[in-house]
Amino acid sequence: MTAAAQPKCEVKDLSLAPQGKERIEWAEREMPVLRQIRERFAKEKPFEGIRLVACCHVTTETGNLARALKAGGADAMLIASNPLSTQDDNAASLVVDYGIPVFAIKGEDNETYHRHVQLALDHKPNIIIDDGSDVTATLIKERQHQMGDIIGTTEETTTGIVRLRAMFNDGVLSFPAMNVNDAETKHFFDNRYGTGQSTLDGIIRATNILLAGKTVVVVGYGWCGKGCALRAKGMGADVVVTEVNAVRALEAKMDGFRVMPMNQAASIGDVFITVTGNKHVIDAHHFDAMKDGAIVCNSGHFDLELNLDYVKEKATSKRVVRQFAEEYHMPSGKSVIVLGEGRLINLAAAEGHPSAVMDMSFANQALACEHLVKNKGKLQPGVYNIPEDIDQEIARLKLNALGIEMDTLTQDQIDYLNSWTVGT
Ligand code: ADE
Repeated sequence: MTAAAQPKCEVKDLSLAPQGKERIEWAEREMPVLRQIRERFAKEKPFEGIRLVACCHVTTETGNLARALKAGGADAMLIASNPLSTQDDNAASLVVDYGIPVFAIKGEDNETYHRHVQLALDHKPNIIIDDGSDVTATLIKERQHQMGDIIGTTEETTTGIVRLRAMFNDGVLSFPAMNVNDAETKHFFDNRYGTGQSTLDGIIRATNILLAGKTVVVVGYGWCGKGCALRAKGMGADVVVTEVNAVRALEAKMDGFRVMPMNQAASIGDVFITVTGNKHVIDAHHFDAMKDGAIVCNSGHFDLELNLDYVKEKATSKRVVRQFAEEYHMPSGKSVIVLGEGRLINLAAAEGHPSAVMDMSFANQALACEHLVKNKGKLQPGVYNIPEDIDQEIARLKLNALGIEMDTLTQDQIDYLNSWTVGT
């Protein structure tokens, strides 16, 4: 490919582009579904004349999503959905090699993050792809006059869906929002296997600890928690699960894990992983009860799952022990190790979910955007599930790419499933 005209950007260093390009192409090898969608978009141009903003983790997988949207004719721009998740070489290549405006720098401060959200809204988007709903929430709070431009939004993650539903219930959501998170080809794979693998990857890269024999406390047994527990068990850890939902607690028990309240788990854990979407699930008294040298991290969307304000306020001193690992010395004489500043450890210290699962998540994103454009003006404000046929099509394309065939129902079986007359 020839270098594209260079758009506006705020990235760390454009000279990182060659390495970023290689990594984007490497990721693409594992993203056959998104590649096929990009090739179709390039012919059909579904987004001609559409201004689009994507607020996502600026990874090589997101790079491939941005390529697909641009190929479809979108005037697309990309900002980071988290200050620590940007891959700087990838951001540089998207600007230099693919002509996509990117505003994202790994380690950017909160002021820069919010300024980029404002810049994204200055782009006057018709479609917003959000991961956590920050752009949509800012639009509603601060840019009411732009609401009329919006065809719709798509949302990547559980936390964003919770916020969108709250916006709808408050009567402030005046456009359709597509719920990518709850597509089966998204959360069964991305939330479970993606979070499971990449969270352990982040912990290992940040600490290089052996997980075998460690007590790993997984806080929350949703799809992400299930993945973390499953993979930690696979590495030989003694996994403890904490939950507030009785059905999930029971599920964790029957999946073979010890289940107990955080008040008990706090004193026995060697490693803690929060994946709840809620605030302060590890609170002051839990930190006080921990063993000396306990390792604590978060893989939920926002960094408020851990009450780090308490740790920072109480600590007598702090030191960086490794990249992405900070040791806080507490007045009790014990220390606690916090990974990745409490931000998504899988993206802060590792590279996020592997491309093979993001292939399906971002195929959902691309097709959800197309669905919004095709149904422009027809959808009432609200939070919409991804249509079943899109989910099935993505799974079919993925199976096909993996060379896996499956069975189909016979006519006799279809008739049986539609009848009630045959019984004992
Ligand atoms: N969320 C989790 N992993 C991701 C990745 N690799 N790219 C974009 N968003 C992600």
